[in-house]
Amino acid sequence: MRTLVFDTPAEASQKAFELVRESLENGSTTFGLATGSTPEKLYELIVASDLDFSQASSINLDEYYGLTKQDSQSYAYFMKKHLISHKPFKNVYIPDGEAQDIDAELARYDKIIEENPIDLQILGIGNNGHIGFNEPPADFNGRTQFIDLDQSTIEANARLFDSIDEVPTKALTMGIKSIMDSKKIILMAFGEEKARAVQKLIEGPVDPMVPASVLQNHPDVVVLLDKASAQFLA
Ligand code: F6R
Repeated sequence: MRTLVFDTPAEASQKAFELVRESLENGSTTFGLATGSTPEKLYELIVASDLDFSQASSINLDEYYGLTKQDSQSYAYFMKKHLISHKPFKNVYIPDGEAQDIDAELARYDKIIEENPIDLQILGIGNNGHIGFNEPPADFNGRTQFIDLDQSTIEANARLFDSIDEVPTKALTMGIKSIMDSKKIILMAFGEEKARAVQKLIEGPVDPMVPASVLQNHPDVVVLLDKASAQFLA
């Protein structure tokens, strides 16, 4: 893993943007995308740029279960708001959080990922070390999963809801194996609340209790940090 530490999230996001541009210019066609606060600035930079994704596909990591696509808390809504409605992609894939037949939905998403190998995957990281919504202990061989969110994830994400009772308790997520199959990965983490997870990601053993630590086994990962999230690194 290559780790780069910047003074601010804005500078780290600028670097992420440059890596996305390079990837697109080098012929990447499929981009694995994250939601959450971390990539917001990157998406802002993409939207403000002249980069053309009209021949590219996006595949999102995850979606809450039980929210409609129109719900302002759904990741489908997030992607529309922050990226897709401003920067059109040829294909946009997001797990269906309204699916009635869960097994069919998991199989559908696995097929999408199989047919569209991910060239560049953007990741954030949870305070508990999750990537996507692969909560500890993570199945390193897992494909798309229907999972119970960790209490710590529900608490962390409650900041975006009116009350913690409104945070969904279940989600659909791309599995670790599919994330690891991506050709290149950029993980961003900002703020002191991520500092312990970042330390374990980079310096800890590869451990299912820290799902992101599996990235140590991937040949091409760039970790972009701000000073606060890097504070415990040796
Ligand atoms: C979101 C996702 C999650 C987030 C993580 C950090 O699609 O896959 O793993 O990246 O929970 O969230 P933020 O960026 O809001 O701190």
